[in-house]
Amino acid sequence: MPCSIVHLQSMISQNTIQQILSRIDVVEIVGSYVKLKKRGANYLGLCPFHNEKTPSFTVSPAKEIYKCFGCGKSGNSIGFLMDLEKYSYVEALRWLANKYNVEIEETETSPEQKIQQQAADSLYIINSFAQKFFSDYLLNTEEGKDIGLSYLKERGFTEETVKKFQIGFNPEARDAFASAAMNAQYNLELLQKSGLVTVRDERPTDNYRGRIIFPIHNQSGKVLGFGARILKTNDRAPKYINTPENEIYVKSKILYGSYFARQAIDKADECLLVEGYTDVVSLHQAGIENVVASGGTSLTPDQLRLVKKYTDNLTIIYDGDSAGIKAALRGMDLAFEAGLNVKLVLIPDNEDPDSYVNKVGAAAFREFIAANKKDFILFQLSVSLKDAGADSSKKSALVNQVAETISKINKAEDFTRQQDYIQQCAELLRIEEGGLHTLVNKFIRERINKEENKQSREEADAAFNQSQQPGDAADDNNLLLFNKDELQERAMVRCLLEFGLKQWNEEQTVAQHIFTEAEANNFDELIDNKKLLELMKFFKASYDEGLEPTAKTFLYNENLELSTLVVNLMDDQHEISPNWKEVFEGKINTREDLYKEEVFSCLNYLKLRKIKRLMDENQRDLEKHHTSEEQMVLLQVHQHLKKAEIELTQQLGTVIFR
Ligand code: UTP
Ligand code: MN
Repeated sequence: MPCSIVHLQSMISQNTIQQILSRIDVVEIVGSYVKLKKRGANYLGLCPFHNEKTPSFTVSPAKEIYKCFGCGKSGNSIGFLMDLEKYSYVEALRWLANKYNVEIEETETSPEQKIQQQAADSLYIINSFAQKFFSDYLLNTEEGKDIGLSYLKERGFTEETVKKFQIGFNPEARDAFASAAMNAQYNLELLQKSGLVTVRDERPTDNYRGRIIFPIHNQSGKVLGFGARILKTNDRAPKYINTPENEIYVKSKILYGSYFARQAIDKADECLLVEGYTDVVSLHQAGIENVVASGGTSLTPDQLRLVKKYTDNLTIIYDGDSAGIKAALRGMDLAFEAGLNVKLVLIPDNEDPDSYVNKVGAAAFREFIAANKKDFILFQLSVSLKDAGADSSKKSALVNQVAETISKINKAEDFTRQQDYIQQCAELLRIEEGGLHTLVNKFIRERINKEENKQSREEADAAFNQSQQPGDAADDNNLLLFNKDELQERAMVRCLLEFGLKQWNEEQTVAQHIFTEAEANNFDELIDNKKLLELMKFFKASYDEGLEPTAKTFLYNENLELSTLVVNLMDDQHEISPNWKEVFEGKINTREDLYKEEVFSCLNYLKLRKIKRLMDENQRDLEKHHTSEEQMVLLQVHQHLKKAEIELTQQLGTVIFR
């Protein structure tokens, strides 16, 4: 609903958003990037998200969505801008506002928000001032040139590279920077917050004295903070001092170098991940620009999301025996869940990417990377296998662990990949492929059960068995994804989105009717799928607020998962079943006319399913030992359910739908 659009993050007013949304024309927006030709009701062009010679990229002005039948990308206008331009939701809105000349009206902010916003703004300004100060010091003073620049040059960095990354130098003197900043009227408290200045013996003092300064940029090139490297080797002082967490520097969300790498990552469709600042800078200088650094810690979900925004392919390049490897190994399940393909390259001989590229040169470095990319899962497995040795209990724990990891690969997205892993891991583990397969499926099932704990075990098994039937891989996949039950659930929610505002009878709209029925039956006993349930509840909340939600409302929801779900729902096959055509030949033949029947049959199907489940449960109960009175009660319940089932089936028999 128009809901979360605003109050979550944007400061753009609801009114402005409405104005923007009302002007959006998907053909025009997509058309400003892709040459589109009209084909029937739709438009067709070459997909901007993958390389193709024959067009399979379709834009539907009626549904206000695009969909590529080649690579499967789909979404609405805002999603398109977010995907193609890597805009955030708010950035996409601003772009559109500008395009359609909508004046942006900002919402009132609370006093706390204002203070925080001001602090953030001031920190950016201080950082920018500091960056210029340090760069200037490095390039234009004797001390900077003699100590800082000569050190960087010795390490092989060119002046061009130093300038590009805005590397600088903080002089040795106690307060060179601090006094410049104080003279320029910067606030001492904020200077401390920025980490650039501390107060020692009641005097403002530079924090990064005698250090090389690496500025860290955000996605639009503003300086968030710094990494300050010591020049002398000194056991007592840390090698790097980094900006402390503050309003703008949030370590878990930062990947060093992403500002300089974004285009190269897009182009290469691969992101290289290294540990350090110097690794990023050196690889860049060697012409390898699709590289970012994590700062040596394990990747956080936010960092993974950042990578995923640009590419699905992540290649981790670490030195062979660094502690960083262990850190990187941790939490990688998250990467698989996010659908990233993770590869690993280990740099030999105690070198790191920076020293190695300097040693062997750019060409040899590239070749080395290409030739030594290991699959991350297989690598992890072979390392652990070595650890386990002959210990059979360790080995069996490992088998379980591997199966669990493989089960997290999104089967729908990557069925063959999962199959390949099963085969290769079985080989490494010297176990039967079939056995590993079963185990992987067990983990998948367990998760499904956990997610949909309302769904009975039997049904999960049924869905699972269905997916096990021979047939081509893609079909298998679809079966697992959308078994008949789920298709019905989807059809139900689609009815709500499409016909919710229409009249059901004189008293109720379709939405009201559906909600009355759903409430009488308990929403979550009617719909298993959590996402569909969430969507229905969103709809209800919005409807109850007096808004008039339709599919479109959700298409522009900031929650991409939700809007993608809606796009796909609206895209489900939904031809009228032949039986209906026969019955109403010549009279009725559009879904529009049939909406009441469709709503009716979806609801009935789901109600019937619920009854069947209750009957199964009752049946199982009956099989247990009971007193004769108890049995009587159970039998009565059975009869009651059976009667309801027959009634529903009879009604359902007159309506056939998919
Ligand atoms: P390294 O020790 O590998 O440093 O730490 P480096 O990047 O190769 O630097 P050079 O080549 O020795 O100059 C890797 C990364 O870990 C973080 C930094 O982000 C560093 O780039 N780190 C390391 C710290 O934050 N603090 C430290 O004290 C050390
Ligand atoms: Mn290094």
